[in-house]
Amino acid sequence: MKSDTAYQAKLPIDIPYKFVNQNRKMVLKLYGHSFDLEELALDFGTPLDVTFPNVIISRIDSIFSNFEAAVNKKGVNMQLSYFYPMKVNPRKELMSEIINCSKKSVGIEIGDIFELKLLLNNFPSEIKHKKLIFHGPKSKDYLEQIISLNERGFDVVFVLEDPSELKTLKSIYKKRIKFGIRLNTGGKDRFGMSLDDAVHIASLIKTDLALLHLHFGEPASFDKLSKGISLLQVILKNFDEGLINDLLVDVGGGMAFYDQARDARHDSQEYFECIIDAIERLNMNSRGRITHLALEAGRWVAAPTQLTIFKLIEVKRLNGKYRYVMDGSFITDLPDTWGINKKWSMFPINMLGAKNVKTYIDGVTCDSDDMYTKNEPELKYLPKPDSDKNLFICIAYTGAYQDTLGNHHCAIPDAKKILIDKTGKVKRINMQRFEDMQRSFGYND
Ligand SMILES: Cc1ncc(COP(=O)(O)O)c(C=O)c1O
Repeated sequence: MKSDTAYQAKLPIDIPYKFVNQNRKMVLKLYGHSFDLEELALDFGTPLDVTFPNVIISRIDSIFSNFEAAVNKKGVNMQLSYFYPMKVNPRKELMSEIINCSKKSVGIEIGDIFELKLLLNNFPSEIKHKKLIFHGPKSKDYLEQIISLNERGFDVVFVLEDPSELKTLKSIYKKRIKFGIRLNTGGKDRFGMSLDDAVHIASLIKTDLALLHLHFGEPASFDKLSKGISLLQVILKNFDEGLINDLLVDVGGGMAFYDQARDARHDSQEYFECIIDAIERLNMNSRGRITHLALEAGRWVAAPTQLTIFKLIEVKRLNGKYRYVMDGSFITDLPDTWGINKKWSMFPINMLGAKNVKTYIDGVTCDSDDMYTKNEPELKYLPKPDSDKNLFICIAYTGAYQDTLGNHHCAIPDAKKILIDKTGKVKRINMQRFEDMQRSFGYND
C-alpha cells in the first residue's frame, strides 16, 4: 500500500478532518473526536456510508474565504453568491445544513420538478428565505410551480435552457420574473442555447435578465473557463451600463475535488483568480462592470461529506494475480468508477502492519464490469488477510453523486448509513432493508 499520507498531501488542504494511523488502525479525526473506523464497520455492518453533513458548511466557508483571498490579490471589487446544486447530493441532512446556513449569499440550484418537490414537501417555509435558481427543461408542472413561487414572492431565477421556454412561459404568465440565460459552451455540451439565440433572447427580456450562466463539465480547465466567459462579450455589447452592473455571471459547477484518473484537482483560490481575470477582461470592453459572480460547485463541496467502508469477503488467485472481492459494489455504491472510470482515495482501515499484496479489487455483483476501475483495472497494495481477521477498506470522499446514481444491481440493497454530527454523535439513518429493495422491484409484502 502506498502511504496514505501521499494521498492526503495531494488533496485540497481545507478539509476539516484527517485519517491517522493509530496502532495499525485507521482513525478518523473529526470535530475534536477520534472514530475508529473498524469499530464503526463492526458495529453498524458493511458496506457502510459514513456521512458528516456539517462538513458541507466548512467547504462552503472555504469557497467564500478563497474567493475573498482571490479578490484581494487581484484588487477588484466583486461579490460571490453560492448555489448548492441539489443533484450532487439531496440527502436531507445536507439540505438542512444548506437551508439553515445563515449566509444570505448561499442559495440552491434546482434541476427539475422532483428536486423542487423534495424542497417544497420538506422545507416549505424555510426555502422562502433562500435564493433559488431553476435549471433544466421546464416540464408543465415544473413551469407552473416556478410561476407559483414567483407569485408568492420567493426569490427565483428562471434559467432559460432554450428559447422555446420563454415562449411557453409568456403564453401563460404575463407578470415579471427574473430570467437567466444558459449558454451552450460548445464541444460535447448538450445544454443551453447558442450564442445567437442568447443574444436574441437577451434583447427580448432586457431588464428582466438577471443572470448569464455557463456550466463546464468537471473538470473545468482554466482555459475552458476563460474562453467560455469571453463569449459573454457578444451578449454584453448590446447592454447598457445599468443592466451590466446588476448582472450575475454564474459559472456553474465543474470545480474538481480530486480526480486521480484525470489528474485534476482545483484549488479554489486559483479557480477564482482565473474567473476574476476573465471577467475583468470583459469589463474592460463593456459599458458597465460585472461585479457579481455565482458558483454552483457540486462535487468540490459535497465529495468530502462521506466515506464508504467495504469488507473483504473473498480472496481469489486468478492467472497468478490476487483478486479481492468486497461486500459492496463499484456499480451500485460507487457508480462513477463504473461510469466515468473515476479513481478514489482508498486505504485499508485495519491490519495496517500486515504484509501487503498487489491485488485487483472486485465488487459483489455478477457483472464483469464490477471492479475497481472498470476501464483500467488497477492493482492496489492491500494487506494479506489472516483467515480469522476481516479486512476492511475505506474509500474516502464519496459524498458527491454516488448515492443518487446508485441502484440495485443483483438485488443488493443500499449501503448501510450512519451520520456523525458536529457534536461527534454517531447515529444510524434510514437503513434500507432487504424488503424495501424488494418492494422497488414490485414485490409488495
Ligand atoms: C447546472 C449545473 N450546475 C452545477 C453542477 C455541479 O457540477 P459539479 O459537481 O461538477 O461541480 C451541475 C452538474 O451536472 C450542473 O448541471
